[in-house]
Amino acid sequence: MRCVGFFITFEGVEGCGKTTQIKLLAEHLTAHGIGTVLTREPGGCDIADKIRAILLDAENRALSPLAELMLYAAARAQHVTEVISPALEAGKIVLCDRFCDATVAYQSFGRGIDRRVISDLNFHACQGVSPDLTVLVDCDPVVGLERAHRRIEATSGPREERFELEELAFHRRVRSGYLHLATEEPFRFLIINGTETIEEIFVAISTQVVARIPEALHAVC
Ligand SMILES: Nc1ncnc2c1ncn2[C@@H]1O[C@H](COP(=O)(O)OP(=O)(O)OP(=O)(O)O)[C@@H](O)[C@H]1O
Ligand SMILES: [Mg+2]
Repeated sequence: MRCVGFFITFEGVEGCGKTTQIKLLAEHLTAHGIGTVLTREPGGCDIADKIRAILLDAENRALSPLAELMLYAAARAQHVTEVISPALEAGKIVLCDRFCDATVAYQSFGRGIDRRVISDLNFHACQGVSPDLTVLVDCDPVVGLERAHRRIEATSGPREERFELEELAFHRRVRSGYLHLATEEPFRFLIINGTETIEEIFVAISTQVVARIPEALHAVC
């Protein structure tokens, strides 16, 4: 089933700058005539967006770690089927704001669920799709949480803050988890310092990502 496109995921703790940077990169690639699909998890299509609302609603304090994990897997299965696989098969560059590494970092390193359970669920939900490149925007969770809180206060609509309300130690485990994943797959992960300015980070990401996109996709898209 795989795929002629190129799959890039963005990962990192709350507020590190993923959404800011992935949008800038999508604009940059599109402006250079490269066929790009920008999407996000949890969500990315109608059914998965409904699951997102459950997952990020701070009212859902009683959601158990296992139920949370399975909701992520369900949303991912739908998203891969409906959006990611078709776009890759059409030769697009797919940019996804969080993907399966987030589940390992948050639900295993953060919550303590056995990593093998998560790997099995990810295996089924991803249906053969895996990131070609993962941009890990790394910063101290104190910095990221402060930014995320400011953004939440300034934004109207549903307050997607169930994770922002977790204790700092949880976010520190998540950050360590991401860095650990990057040491396991150094060629897939690009670690970017998320404490620099938005412009500096964008230059670092765009330069290094464009260098990694296969020539064939520059030419045909
Ligand atoms: N490098 C930066 N320096 C200062 N502020 C930043 C930087 N990057 C992003 N911001 C601001 O911080 C806030 C959080 O950024 P953003 O939403 O991109 O983070 P995120 O990683 O997507 O967060 P979340 O994990 O909650 O989705 C936004 O208001 C954004 O404008
Ligand atoms: Mg975001």
